[in-house]
Amino acid sequence: MKKILITGGAGFIGSHVVRLFVTKYSDYQVFNLDKLTYAGNLENLKDIETKSNYTFVKGDITDADFIQQLFQEKQFDAVIHLAAESHVDRSISNPLEFVMTNVIGTVNLLNAAKAIWGCSKDKPVPTDKRFYHISTDEVYGSLGDTGLFTEQTAYDPHSPYSASKASSDHFVRAYFDTYNMPCVISNCSNNYGPNHFPEKLIPLCINNIKNNKPLPIYGKGENVRDWLYVVDHANAIDVIFHKAANGTTYNVGGHNEWTNIAVIRLLCRIMDKKLGRAEGSSEQLITFVKDRAGHDLRYAIDSTKLQNELGWKPSLQFEEGLEKTVDWYLTNEEWLAHVTSGNYQHYYEQQYVHR
Ligand code: NAD
Ligand code: DAU
Repeated sequence: MKKILITGGAGFIGSHVVRLFVTKYSDYQVFNLDKLTYAGNLENLKDIETKSNYTFVKGDITDADFIQQLFQEKQFDAVIHLAAESHVDRSISNPLEFVMTNVIGTVNLLNAAKAIWGCSKDKPVPTDKRFYHISTDEVYGSLGDTGLFTEQTAYDPHSPYSASKASSDHFVRAYFDTYNMPCVISNCSNNYGPNHFPEKLIPLCINNIKNNKPLPIYGKGENVRDWLYVVDHANAIDVIFHKAANGTTYNVGGHNEWTNIAVIRLLCRIMDKKLGRAEGSSEQLITFVKDRAGHDLRYAIDSTKLQNELGWKPSLQFEEGLEKTVDWYLTNEEWLAHVTSGNYQHYYEQQYVHR
């Protein structure tokens, strides 16, 4: 029985990773450690919360004593670290929170794992342990009209969010180099899909179209993002967790580059059809607003290394994935209502505290 700690498992990507590991690996004991910030929602995991190989632990990765104790008590064999502050706009108004969770929180986890695994430069890298850090393509900065981010691209973060993620990546690599920690990192492009918190572009616009509210597009909508369906990312995490060599990095992306305005126009067309509205009516909601400060122009990932070495590839093209995503939001109205009203934040008290 392997004990795996997944941090940030109540969030968007983390919940898909927890579900995959709990259902696919019944011989793994999966612990989901999450602080349940505004972005953490245990309703994302309703379908698996009573599985015998799943345990939820409420806690904060910035609390070093708590983290040390938890690792001593549970003796985890592996960590898949997703907990983070993840929204660029929030990092612009509150950078320190991003330093605390994304940098200090990551170092706390590294220290706790190092202590229980006894890692040091005098000993070989343990082959039965793993510290897998989930990161972002934003650490590479911004591309011009051509080119792709590879694993060799130099780091050049521009937002407080990407600077904090870049810093955490450097710490993970430093722990591999200095203490022979069994570390792996992956850097992924923009995810979309079910359970995405409606502050991010796609779910925000789905919710706004549904409610006939303006669709805020920063600047001219010419910024490009490379979109990957969240379940494809979870599958990549599974493959990398099990197959990657220690000390390696993999880029994860879907070769699905879209300008923001093209994404929103496509979304409007899909939703007009699904909602039985006249073609072109949702596009009237598009509103160009002030640009994000330091807004990166273009992200695009080269995931050839992951495809060639570990055999992963994305299963969905963007048009298909976006339609699936819209369907999910339209059939999970209760989830969306709870998230937008704030009701989801009481789920923990109702389901866990009194169990
Ligand atoms: P999210 O914001 O949806 O979820 C983050 C989770 O972390 C939440 O459940 C939150 O409660 C938890 N958390 C935050 N601070 C915590 C703390 N101090 N202690 C414990 N838990 C805490 O984020 P996401 O979009 O699912 O991203 C997950 C990870 O993947 C992040 O590390 C992010 O940088 C990375 N990533 C995200 C994307 C994307 O497109 N969303 C792409 C590439 C990489
Ligand atoms: O590239 C991976 C990253 O993708 C992750 O590391 C981040 O955690 C994740 O939040 C995401 O960052 P972005 O900033 O790219 O995602 P967001 O959904 O905030 O914005 C997508 C694009 O849309 C970006 O160019 C900004 C723009 N935008 C966003 C919002 C919220 C708008 O035009 N209007 C909006 O209201």
